[in-house]
Amino acid sequence: MTNILSGRDTAQHVIKTNLAPRVAALKAKGVTPKLVVVLIGDHAASASYVRQKEKYAVKCAMESEVRRFDESVTEAEVLGELEAINADDTIHGVIVQLPVPKHISVPKVLSTIAPHKDVDGFHAENIGKLVQGEPCLQCCTPKGIMTMLRESGTELSGANAVVVGRSNIVGKPIAALLLNANATVTTCHSRTRNLVMHTKMADVLVIAVGRPQMINADHVKEGAVVIDVGIHRMEDGKLCGDVDFESVKDIVKLITPVPGGVGPMTVVSLIENTIEAAEKSVT
Ligand code: GUN
Repeated sequence: MTNILSGRDTAQHVIKTNLAPRVAALKAKGVTPKLVVVLIGDHAASASYVRQKEKYAVKCAMESEVRRFDESVTEAEVLGELEAINADDTIHGVIVQLPVPKHISVPKVLSTIAPHKDVDGFHAENIGKLVQGEPCLQCCTPKGIMTMLRESGTELSGANAVVVGRSNIVGKPIAALLLNANATVTTCHSRTRNLVMHTKMADVLVIAVGRPQMINADHVKEGAVVIDVGIHRMEDGKLCGDVDFESVKDIVKLITPVPGGVGPMTVVSLIENTIEAAEKSVT
């Protein structure tokens, strides 16, 4: 019996059964969903993430375009580009790949993207709706985690869900989504006293800290479902997560691998958000 919760397999399943038919239905109405990715500078990890996004867009027969800017582009130029994209009816979704150079304000960039095209789900309007449990474009990593938990049949109502990490793009929104799904949610962070006491209670444990292999067998309860959001390159060139996979894998009920866990589900959620935005544009 495998206890690997594969994001790669779940992504394929979601594309086949949900996303591809929705793209076909839109095309029958004369609309091809289109995503624009704004990429500034030459951050190596960003370039790799953007390639993944393009690959998945192709798989779903959608249109995608990368608009590249030199590191020296001004903030005004970027905001002007976003205004033009907001006004272009052939584009349904836009993201600005983060990080951006220091002279460009992330809050300004995020608030300039029209909320109905904000397929990253980072605009304050979308985050606010997500917290309130209203329909909205949801941040992609949390959305992808919820899809994986649903597809795996993990019961959330009444479950103890523990999130480690409190970032705006993963920790806070996944805690809100788990709460909306009726889990009892605890958020832990760098100032949490006795982390193990909390993580040991978790039926569902989401780790989004950014520290290689910080969670091990001592932290997890037998039979827990563990979602590892981290991705790091080790000295030997291999990738690892925030969880020490080998130490934990025989204790837990399900665990996401790195790579092939949360990563593909983040990209699939971006594609799904773009389809959702395109669907809204024709209704
Ligand atoms: N950089 C790392 N992750 C993300 C993401 O989910 N969206 C954007 N726009 N940039 C990122």
